[in-house]
Amino acid sequence: MKQQVTRRIFAQGTMAATATGVLGAAASALGQQESGKRLIIGVACSPRKGMTTATGMDVALKAAAAVDSRIETKLVDLGGLTVNGWSPTPTEDDFTKLLPLFKADNLAGLIIGSPVYFRTMSSLCKAFLERLGALRQPKLLLSGKVAGALAVGAMRNGGQEEVISEIHNAMLCHEATLVGGKAGAFQGATLWNAQGDDITKDEFGIETAQKLGARVAEEILKA
Ligand SMILES: Cc1cc2nc3c(=O)[nH]c(=O)nc-3n(C[C@H](O)[C@H](O)[C@H](O)COP(=O)(O)O)c2cc1C
Repeated sequence: MKQQVTRRIFAQGTMAATATGVLGAAASALGQQESGKRLIIGVACSPRKGMTTATGMDVALKAAAAVDSRIETKLVDLGGLTVNGWSPTPTEDDFTKLLPLFKADNLAGLIIGSPVYFRTMSSLCKAFLERLGALRQPKLLLSGKVAGALAVGAMRNGGQEEVISEIHNAMLCHEATLVGGKAGAFQGATLWNAQGDDITKDEFGIETAQKLGARVAEEILKA
């Protein structure tokens, strides 16, 4: 399964939730509940909005949507948003506004992507995962939902696999159904930003993103 990836296609993008559109995205998620489609949300956890993590996620989501017309996707780019880590004295931030999106009745899968920062996930990704804990109580809302992971590093063996494992570990705490990618990308999407932030030039990595998106969609459709 090959998919031509160009900057133009990325610009057209999947539905994206950004700093200016978080409330709108959450509202439209509620509208989607009536569409009967299975929703996959891809979360890009780089502070740099629209950069390699978001591009890789967009590729994964497009591949997921290409599997079947019953699949619907949404890209949530956390770049530029404020997401505080968990706190016993919570304050309002952009995660608060995004939360309804993750509670959508038709949510069927999550793909979480992070840049590699010193061989671990970004602090933004960690904060997001901590806050996602809101979906664990009083009921495990993500139980049985399909979850996959994507990581981008500037080095070929820069820690992408470690970051994917870290994201998987967090999603195990939700009873999520973990998947990697199709053959050749068994752990998930591993991208290498070696060409000046143009991740579309990383042919191998882009293919792993496509294989991850396809695998998530296929697993959802088994249910
Ligand atoms: C603080 C920091 C630490 C980083 N550490 C690593 C690392 O350990 N391994 C690696 O491969 N890349 C590392 N990088 C490079 C980023 O992972 C890479 O540039 C990635 O493509 C950034 O994602 P973005 O374009 O979505 O922001 C680091 C970058 C920053 C800013």
